[in-house]
Amino acid sequence: MSAAPLIDPFARPISYLRVSVTDRCDFRCVYCMSEAMTFLPKKELLTLEELDRMCSTFVRMGVRKLRITGGEPLVRRNILTFFRSMSRHLDSGALEELTLTTNGSQLARFATDLAAAGVRRVNVSLDTLDEAKFARVTRWGRLPQVMKGIDAAQEAGLRVKINAVALKGFNEDELFDLQAWTASRDMDLTFIEVMPMGDMGPEADRIGQYWALSDLRARLAERFTLTDLPERTGGPARYVRIEETGQKIGFITPLTHNFCESCNRVRLTCTGELYMCLGQEDMADLRAPLRASETDGPLEDAIRAAIARKPKGHDFDYSRAEVAGQMSRHMSHTGG
Ligand code: GTP
Ligand code: 5AD
Ligand code: SF4
Repeated sequence: MSAAPLIDPFARPISYLRVSVTDRCDFRCVYCMSEAMTFLPKKELLTLEELDRMCSTFVRMGVRKLRITGGEPLVRRNILTFFRSMSRHLDSGALEELTLTTNGSQLARFATDLAAAGVRRVNVSLDTLDEAKFARVTRWGRLPQVMKGIDAAQEAGLRVKINAVALKGFNEDELFDLQAWTASRDMDLTFIEVMPMGDMGPEADRIGQYWALSDLRARLAERFTLTDLPERTGGPARYVRIEETGQKIGFITPLTHNFCESCNRVRLTCTGELYMCLGQEDMADLRAPLRASETDGPLEDAIRAAIARKPKGHDFDYSRAEVAGQMSRHMSHTGG
């Protein structure tokens, strides 16, 4: 039985759920985490069965796209069981896309099974092609391991999109290397403006410098002919095609262009909190109604009440002397 679709107060249909299945990660990217993070005790987490019930309820309420995130989603124990279980919604046609955003470190192990569970594409976060710089920005990550993961994903037939956070003075000089490398491997590439999330420590200030994508785009345009594309993947990225190579480049610009007017998504954390916006503090606890009843009625009511207070947008702003709209929670909490 399907329920009435979810529409927010600004008439935006909510069809995209991002689910963070763990706050843990095997990396410590400087713009995402501090070096010494404390993670949630395991008993706070929704079980895989509870995650299934949550997601299935959202699917029944009109969610067509499910993106699994973290932390690093593939470090959650038995996560394949969850992917396999969600694939029934692909089979039934209720869900259009089941996908994930990953740091790539575990893809060599999981790519084949993910493809078998109906995953068609993965977004891999990668900011630099230089081993030493990669180790610096991820603190704990090792580039060759991620490269093996990307190889395995492509061999398994998954489409790969690379997400690179644009960092001034860090990967500015790699703009064309990243573009040429992704083109040569038939991968899409999306750049993201760094957002003020959590307190990252002094290293973050040294590396995590904001680089406006309007500037990055202008540099690309010095070398290539860029054509704006109307297409959307259901995410916030705007795409251009490089006419000389045919490659698609995406820009996620929460700072220079606020894309909130077409927002179609909400975020569920691994403890069952629903964040209606990445850039606002308001959230709804869905774990309590889930656990309070064996039927999904109270959960559905709680979801509707939460969507009814989805805000118009975030307030990130670097244009004043002080960073405005800063979030106290880390990105790994809401999954980006
Ligand atoms: P596709 O378009 O399906 O490839 O995915 P996507 O861009 O929605 O997902 P992805 O995980 O690649 O998102 C990349 C990053 O964009 C996220 O990790 C966030 O940093 C940012 N992002 C995604 N959605 C939002 C949003 O609603 N608000 C803001 N401010 N940033 C977002
Ligand atoms: N600003 C922008 N992007 C971020 N990510 C993590 N933290 C931030 C931030 N503060 C990105 C990661 C990954 C995605 C999940 O979110 O690089 O691509
Ligand atoms: Fe882990 Fe991704 Fe955060 Fe890096 S950005 S620490 S890979 S969750």
